[in-house]
Amino acid sequence: ALRASIAPIAQKANQRSQYALQPQASYKVAILGAAGGIGQPLALLIKMSPLVSALNLYDIANVKGVAADLSHCNTPSQVLDFTGASELGNCLKGVNVVVIPAGVPRKPGMTRDDLFNINANIVKTLVEAVADNCPDAFIHIISNPVNSTVPIAAEVLKQKGVYDPKKLFGVTTLDVVRANTFVAQKKNLKLIDVDVPVVGGHAGITILPLLSKTKPSVSFTDEEVEQLTVRIQNAGTEVVEAKAGAGSATLSMAYTAARFVESSLRALDGDGDVYECSFVQSDLTDLPFFASRIKLGRKGIEAWIPSDLEGLTEYEQKALEALKPELKASIEKGIAFVQKQP
Ligand code: NAD
Ligand code: LMR
Repeated sequence: ALRASIAPIAQKANQRSQYALQPQASYKVAILGAAGGIGQPLALLIKMSPLVSALNLYDIANVKGVAADLSHCNTPSQVLDFTGASELGNCLKGVNVVVIPAGVPRKPGMTRDDLFNINANIVKTLVEAVADNCPDAFIHIISNPVNSTVPIAAEVLKQKGVYDPKKLFGVTTLDVVRANTFVAQKKNLKLIDVDVPVVGGHAGITILPLLSKTKPSVSFTDEEVEQLTVRIQNAGTEVVEAKAGAGSATLSMAYTAARFVESSLRALDGDGDVYECSFVQSDLTDLPFFASRIKLGRKGIEAWIPSDLEGLTEYEQKALEALKPELKASIEKGIAFVQKQP
């Protein structure tokens, strides 16, 4: 009798879980560095996406357990683990979006550029594998220093003859999310409504929030502009210091990287209204790479949005000119790193 009474319930639950197992779309996403501080929560958030049918997790160690754990969530994507260089190619085959948070994070007292010596090589090796196995994929670079690792990735892809500048992105979404949060707090605005474009790069003064372009339109005193700008530029360091040696932003980074992945998947899926800020190859300034708002489409960047850089305040215009030498040097350092290799 008991069996008979639970049978319909079990059947219903079964139907529901079968329904839950149907993805709304069938995109394949890979995370390289998936067992790390960013990689793990990012994998969890991507596992929640109804647009993903396969989630491939790669790391040099500890990724088996992460994948086993995640695979028990009854959301559509199938989770697979890949460990070490010999499994990297298989991890990348047929992938639509590759996210790279592999590498070492900062400790207090370090700049992002201090990570160059270790992370440059990691990004170079991983992007070589991307070029060989999924050259059409959108590539999201999180590993720091982003101002150099994105140019490194571009050079590697060029050398492999598969560079598509519309599909290579430095993830700077965290700067936008921080700017939105801090501005909403300061001006007592509803968070969901606030949007601040952040341009330039992703380190110190190269991070330039365009507060005059905040939506909804708000006015700031000169002191507020200075205070908010400096806080947004130093927000990464704020987290590094609070973590006191245990690394840098991981949870807010995972949240923002998941947003950028979701935006990319929506664009791939034909949504014609997807805009994000990202550090990309760009003609908007005299620098070869520059973070700005871009429109995303099925083939990557559909448009770079120049209007954010028009009609800047004097403060913003000065800050834009002031960031250029540092950003230029970081870009050139990345390019030279690949070009100088034998
Ligand atoms: P973490 O040390 O917790 O994790 C890094 C992971 O990368 C580890 O699991 C490690 O095993 C893996 N890894 C190392 N070498 C690898 C290789 N050759 N191939 C594959 N995986 C490899 O660090 P984290 O906190 O996750 O940060 C990762 C990177 O992201 C750092 O460089 C950090 O500066 C950067 N970051 C960028 C932003 C941004 O806004 N773009 C924000 C936060 C952190
Ligand atoms: C951040 O902005 O939080 C990251 O770039 C990590 C860091 O080193 O600050």
